[in-house]
Amino acid sequence: MEKDSKIRVLTGDRPTGKLHLGHYVGSIKNRLKLQEESDVSFHMIADIQALTDNADNPEKIRKNVLEVALDNLACGLDPQKTTMFIQSEIPEIAELTVLFLNLVTLARLKRNPTVKDEMKQKGFGEDVPAGFLCYPVSQAADILFAKANVIPVGEDQLPVIEQANEIVDDFNRFYGKIFDRIKPKVGDTPRLVGIDGSTKMGKSLNNAIYLSDSHEEISKKVMDMYTDPGHIHVEDPGKVEGNVVFIYLDIFDEDKNEVKKLKEQYKKGGLGDVIIKKRLIEVLEKFLAPIRERREELAKNPSEIMKILEDGTERAREEAKKTMEEVRKAIKIDYF
Ligand code: TRP
Repeated sequence: MEKDSKIRVLTGDRPTGKLHLGHYVGSIKNRLKLQEESDVSFHMIADIQALTDNADNPEKIRKNVLEVALDNLACGLDPQKTTMFIQSEIPEIAELTVLFLNLVTLARLKRNPTVKDEMKQKGFGEDVPAGFLCYPVSQAADILFAKANVIPVGEDQLPVIEQANEIVDDFNRFYGKIFDRIKPKVGDTPRLVGIDGSTKMGKSLNNAIYLSDSHEEISKKVMDMYTDPGHIHVEDPGKVEGNVVFIYLDIFDEDKNEVKKLKEQYKKGGLGDVIIKKRLIEVLEKFLAPIRERREELAKNPSEIMKILEDGTERAREEAKKTMEEVRKAIKIDYF
């Protein structure tokens, strides 16, 4: 990032479901911090991107626009400080995507590790929708229409940002410098394991604790958590590494000393899984209860939430118009 350039933050969520703890530690926490430190801050609900692998299910995307807005607002995103908007309402993003598509090759798109992983997970193979394969290009447009330069994202998105920077470099080289390079900002916990101990918490993996989960849901999920399969009797020595309960306690329990003591005791033997699970339930409840309560309050007035998005979209569109004027001029497609 240039020395004298302002901090312009932009981040986004696909409205395919409610957000979970992985989103919080990977990105939302940074969004909240950066909305205070930045010159401008944007949050996009990426409905077009969500449609790239849900073309046959627009109802799902439509419904989750509100859910994702609620999750972010409940966590503390402040519409006075962060312009919240809906991707599909900014046609300039689509326009910019088409222009950026000339700057990437099919081979490069197929090599993107994030896209490759997601394609495998979704079982696409060669039958991948072209829109899905190209989503890193449209994501570059999501970011650059607003001239954003700091992007809070989960670790899995780093290759997408890298590809966006290649687009920035090519664009600036071909047409003159318009865009800054982009800096991803990954949370202190770049990747949160799922409750089943698999490497990533994800909706489609069925191993997530949602920001909106009830106390009962949290309790049930923690009680089901993967610990140490070798820790059968209370008096057996247990393993702390790879033990999901301890991984979560390390992240969410504020009393680090107590966690350290519990770990020692668990390793020696004599500490049952139920005791550490009960502690984690308490810790997560303390963290999630205020978010859940705020969310329930906000959810009573969906039209107010939609108004926030409408106002934000209007502001975002102003930015988009300015950027497109510059882009058209640079590419010499400013005829009249
Ligand atoms: N691909 C992101 C995700 O799945 C969502 C997203 C869309 C995004 N557009 C963005 C993130 C722009 C940052 C910037 O999490």
